[in-house]
Amino acid sequence: MHGARAGGEVAAQIAPISMSALALFTEALMTRIAILADIHGNLPALTAVLADLDHVAPDQVIVNGDVINRGPQSRECLDVVRSMGWPVVYGNHEDYALKYDVGIDDDPDSYSDFWLPIRLVAEQELSADDLEYLRTLPRAYVLDLPGLPAVRLVHGSMRGLSDGMGFWMSDEELINAVRDAPEPVVIGAHTHRPLDRHVGTRWVLNSGAVGMPYNGDPHAQYLLLEGRGGAWSAEFRQVPYDRAEVYAAWDRCEYITTAMSAQIFKYELETATFHLGIYLKFCKRHGLERNTMASVERYRYATRDVKPGRSASLSQAS
Ligand SMILES: [Fe+2]
Ligand SMILES: [Fe+2]
Repeated sequence: MHGARAGGEVAAQIAPISMSALALFTEALMTRIAILADIHGNLPALTAVLADLDHVAPDQVIVNGDVINRGPQSRECLDVVRSMGWPVVYGNHEDYALKYDVGIDDDPDSYSDFWLPIRLVAEQELSADDLEYLRTLPRAYVLDLPGLPAVRLVHGSMRGLSDGMGFWMSDEELINAVRDAPEPVVIGAHTHRPLDRHVGTRWVLNSGAVGMPYNGDPHAQYLLLEGRGGAWSAEFRQVPYDRAEVYAAWDRCEYITTAMSAQIFKYELETATFHLGIYLKFCKRHGLERNTMASVERYRYATRDVKPGRSASLSQAS
């Protein structure tokens, strides 16, 4: 079943003049825009969303960054996205790939075994043409349709690619994160958690993640905007799919037994919860080598009772 949650609305700034034929025409129009983000190399999730899009039949699909990395099928996901010809906004994971490609990632840690899955995407999976394509992606996409409030998509926030906008932020923090956007509606990604908040004069949304949600809900998630009568409304869609297919794809990767970042990504998918940063702190606190299965197992045991969608605090993971 495809669940849905109604979101808020923002009215267009339309001058109160007598309705012209054009205005009447615009009022009658309905447009639907699907916003997909954080696909993260999860091909079964993307395939399920494609099937849902067939049913929903939006007028346009836009991808708001992080098509690659974390999941086991980055190249396949990028192939799908490129073949669809959808506009794509640059995410921090596209940025990682390009940093590896040009060799300016001078942090030796980036070349450690732990991060091998991310490095392999940049160095072996993606073609030179793919990398060139990533280089051309814009940092933002603006939807400016007649009779509807303008919408800006950015992967993080107006402050940066990795500056995600989430439910834990106060109104003031959210206002600051979108202050520089000229548009009344701003849609982010990156946090892998849906968001729907009216702050000041703005409507701030986050689409959630297709491939690696962190809100405790394992479905492939995306946002559907519907523009009608001069206003947008939002529907957060949750699409079921078989995660066993992703685990099988990971098992076909040689690095699954040698690069523990992949084990943590797998745990994130299983629990629909963010773990990577907490795992790294956990290892530091306990003096554990982060790239061993024993450390991963100890972390999984320590966080076994953490509520899905709520990242473990270090005290919980101790
Ligand atoms: Fe991101
Ligand atoms: Fe992401």
